[in-house]
Amino acid sequence: MSSAAAAMTGAGKVVCVTGASGYIASWIVKLLLARGYTVRATTELLDPAVKGTLNVLRSCKKTSVKRVVITSSVGAVIYNGKPRTPDVVVDETWFSDPEFCQKNQHWYVLSKTLAEEAAWTFCRDNGLQIVTINPSMVIGPLLQPTLNTSVEAILKLIDGSSDTYPNFCYGWVNVKDVALGHILAFEVPSANGRYCMVERVVHCSELVNVIRGMYPTIPLPDKPADDEPTFPTYQVSKEKIRSLGIELVPLETNIQETIESLKEKGFVTFESNHL
Ligand SMILES: NC(=O)c1ccc[n+]([C@@H]2O[C@H](COP(=O)([O-])OP(=O)(O)OC[C@H]3O[C@@H](n4cnc5c(N)ncnc54)[C@H](OP(=O)(O)O)[C@@H]3O)[C@@H](O)[C@H]2O)c1
Repeated sequence: MSSAAAAMTGAGKVVCVTGASGYIASWIVKLLLARGYTVRATTELLDPAVKGTLNVLRSCKKTSVKRVVITSSVGAVIYNGKPRTPDVVVDETWFSDPEFCQKNQHWYVLSKTLAEEAAWTFCRDNGLQIVTINPSMVIGPLLQPTLNTSVEAILKLIDGSSDTYPNFCYGWVNVKDVALGHILAFEVPSANGRYCMVERVVHCSELVNVIRGMYPTIPLPDKPADDEPTFPTYQVSKEKIRSLGIELVPLETNIQETIESLKEKGFVTFESNHL
């Protein structure tokens, strides 16, 4: 079927795909969208994120809770199709576009965007104060014995499991800064709205270079995972989080603390020979 004919097949029709973030279902969604269908996706992610958030807020409403601090994500900020290039400074006035997230199958980002939207609406309608913390990839020392996704992203670069790094840019921030951000958002009476927490956005090639500079003997991936053009970086404003008194710990420290913690917890073994 030609793509033009395929596009006509689904025009004006709505299809629901359950479990749309899965391996097979995400391809079904991709093909449906190419055929012109409007896709309504349910995911393991969306329901827990949105309904879970609203459940907690409903409980808050029934008690004497005055202010709620929500752990959102910079994912609920940046995914709206606006260009992101090295001269662009993203700030808290940016909002991700659910339709854009769905079209591009960014399911986790969609879940965070919808959950944050639902939280703002609920709190406005029910007289609850809300502050959101919108961090990028959170790294730093682990307190718990298990890995979470963002720390695992660093482990994958240093454990010798791959000779490629993602051809992508991520923002990074220290877990201790993010924790303190939550507490100050709760304690400081004037805290309000959203707080982006991103120390620096770097391409994974730069991330690898930073690691190599500190740990020269660790074998690291030396090429991107695909031949697509290199993803550009962008900036995220630190002004608002500075207004809470937080000066974000630099990327180099964040990486070092993460690697030392991974080593201490036995996720990776090598000599500590950073410069
Ligand atoms: N880590 C990052 O880079 C990052 C960046 C931006 C935003 N965030 C947001 O920060 C929050 C915490 O992230 P994290 O990295 O700390 O994640 P994590 O280590 O995976 O912890 C998630 C916690 O949520 C609990 N949980 C998961 N599904 C649940 C459900 N349906 N109902 C109730 N509890 C549930 C988990 O409990 P079990 O262990 O029992 O499953 C676990 O205690 C998330 O909302 C995430 O979206 C994280």
